Amino acid sequence: MANTEQLLKKNLNQLSSKFNLEYFIVNMKEISNMFEFEQQRLYALLSNSELEYLEQLKIYKNKVQWVSGRYVVKQAFFKYKLSSKSLIDLSCIDVVKGQNSEPYILQYPNVNVSITHSYPYCIGIVSEKNIGIDLEKINAPEDSLIKFFFSEREKEILIDINDSNQYNIKSINLWTRKEAVSKLLKLGMKMNFKKLDVIDDELICNGVIKLFTYVCNDFSLTLAIDS
Ligand SMILES: CC(C)(COP(=O)(O)OP(=O)(O)OC[C@H]1O[C@@H](n2cnc3c(N)ncnc32)[C@H](O)[C@@H]1OP(=O)(O)O)[C@@H](O)C(=O)NCCC(=O)NCCS
Repeated sequence: MANTEQLLKKNLNQLSSKFNLEYFIVNMKEISNMFEFEQQRLYALLSNSELEYLEQLKIYKNKVQWVSGRYVVKQAFFKYKLSSKSLIDLSCIDVVKGQNSEPYILQYPNVNVSITHSYPYCIGIVSEKNIGIDLEKINAPEDSLIKFFFSEREKEILIDINDSNQYNIKSINLWTRKEAVSKLLKLGMKMNFKKLDVIDDELICNGVIKLFTYVCNDFSLTLAIDS
C-alpha cells in the first residue's frame, strides 16, 4: 500500500498539471529536525521580519507549525517562478497574514496562496487562480461539529450511513470541503459553514468553485479552486 505522503503527492500532481498550480509538502518532523540540527539552513529561507516574528513565538510546537507554513509556501513559490524561468531568493519574500488571517506573499499580492497543516504534514499551494486547501486526519467527528456546522442536506446524507468508518470518512471529507472553500473565500472562521452545502463538486459562489476531495489512507484532502 502506498504511504500517505505518496498518495498526497499523486493527487496533488494531477491537480498541479490540470490547473497550473504549484505545491510543496513537508513532513513537520523534518522541520523539527532542521530546528535541532540544521537551523542555519532553515533560517536562511526566512526574511528579517519573519525571523523577528519567529523569535516571539514561545511554544515549540507553534514555532514548528508556523515555520512549516512559511517553508512550504516559499518552496511552492520557488517552483512557480521556476516554471517561468525565474529564480528567486526566498529570504526576500514575506509570507504574511491579511485582515482575516489569510496568507499572502507581501511582494506578490496577486499570487494566490493557501496553507494547511495536519500532523505530520504541511502543504502549501501557490496559483494564479483563487484556491483553498485543507487536510484533516480522519477521525470520528464531534457530534457538535455536525450539529452546528453542517447543512440539512449534508446531515441527511450522513444519517443514512450505518458503517462507522464510512461515516467518519464522509463527514471529514465534507469538513475539509468546507474548510477549503472558507480558505478560498478568505473568510476562515467567519464563514457561515452551516449555510455552505458542499455535497456537489461545483459551487456557484461569485463564479464557479470546483471541489476535489481525496482520501489518502487516514487523511482527507480537499482542494477548492475558482474555475
Ligand atoms: C483557520 C481556518 C481557516 C482553518 O483552520 P484549520 O483547518 O484548523 O487549520 P489548517 O492548518 O488547515 O489551516 C491553517 C491555515 O489556514 C490559513 N488561514 C487562516 N485564516 C484564513 C483565512 N481567513 N482565509 C484563508 N486561509 C486562512 C492560514 O494560512 C493558516 O496557516 P498559518 O497559520 O501557518 O498561516 C479556520 O477555518 C479554522 O480555524 N477552522 C477550525 C474550525 C474548528 O476547529 N471548529 C471546531 C468547531 S467544534
